[in-house]
Amino acid sequence: MGSMNSSLEVEQASELEIITLANNNGMTVEIINYGARVKSIKFPVHNKPTEMILGYDSATDYITDDFYLGATCGRVCNRIAGGNFEIAGREYQLPLNDGDNCLHGGIDNFSKRYWAVDKATQSNSSVTLSLISPNGDQGFPGTLNLSVTYQLSEDNKLSIEYLANTDSATPINLTNHAYFNLGEQDCQSLYLQMMSSAVLETDSANIPTGNIIPVEQTDYNFREPACVGKRQGNTQDKSLKEKQGYDHCFVLDNAPFAEPKAVLTSLKNQISLSVYTDQATIQLYTGFYLSGEFGSYQGLCLEAQNYTDADNNKHFPSNILQPNQKYQRKIIYQFESIT
Ligand code: BGC
Repeated sequence: MGSMNSSLEVEQASELEIITLANNNGMTVEIINYGARVKSIKFPVHNKPTEMILGYDSATDYITDDFYLGATCGRVCNRIAGGNFEIAGREYQLPLNDGDNCLHGGIDNFSKRYWAVDKATQSNSSVTLSLISPNGDQGFPGTLNLSVTYQLSEDNKLSIEYLANTDSATPINLTNHAYFNLGEQDCQSLYLQMMSSAVLETDSANIPTGNIIPVEQTDYNFREPACVGKRQGNTQDKSLKEKQGYDHCFVLDNAPFAEPKAVLTSLKNQISLSVYTDQATIQLYTGFYLSGEFGSYQGLCLEAQNYTDADNNKHFPSNILQPNQKYQRKIIYQFESIT
């Protein structure tokens, strides 16, 4: 105590808030305002509350997190090639924080901000956090007003709703970066099913080439449930071998919101997680960059979002939000016992 570092931590920690949501079926969710993150999701396994995602014990540990644990990523999650893009003939340059590219919104991205907690609407089942991202923030144009609402239902759905508006055209692509292991030691024995018929081809820096590849006859075909660890361990696919796992953007089939877009299952704990979303893709990332107190593959992310680098691929659905438009996206994580 007393060193500059610890006094800095205390100062920053004083702004930290933990919000707990709970339902009457034994599910609890902890949200922290630093990065509008999901810190914990506990769901009963054989009547014992069990952690479903990766997290740090202490909320202050998130301040030094490099892995985007449970985070709200933005303004533009995933990669923007060269950190640059053009809107209406004007070029914008963002800071580069992933080799030559910009990842998850830049160096000081939304996962590193203290979001405001809306006390007026807060309850045991719901909380809204908001943030104002000023014009020029991380190089992005326009003042962006945004909020994320977390709501826990009695039928064990954690719903995440993003809302935003801007006063000048800007790209926006928000996602949640929770790492799931459904109470297992890692994600290797989980089964995954995804309603995706195509994946974005990427180069070794994870930047889309622009090609959209059908998943048929490939190790990207999760249309029937497949064991994640077996798939990535036995693969002959060049990109999967090079990366040592999945870090790919799966284009979701056009299906009604009410149909799950991905289902992750733990046979051991007899639990399934269904992901519902109106986003166009899911980035499946199997956590092979995790290190330090976490091991590779200790959890996997199912990041519902728009196509990677839509800002430099005009044939992908656009990320651009205009001043007269409202950005509104939804992700639901539903947990179920499958006994
Ligand atoms: C990306 C990974 C990246 C990770 C950072 C994921 O969304 O796809 O490439 O390393 O975020 O934790």
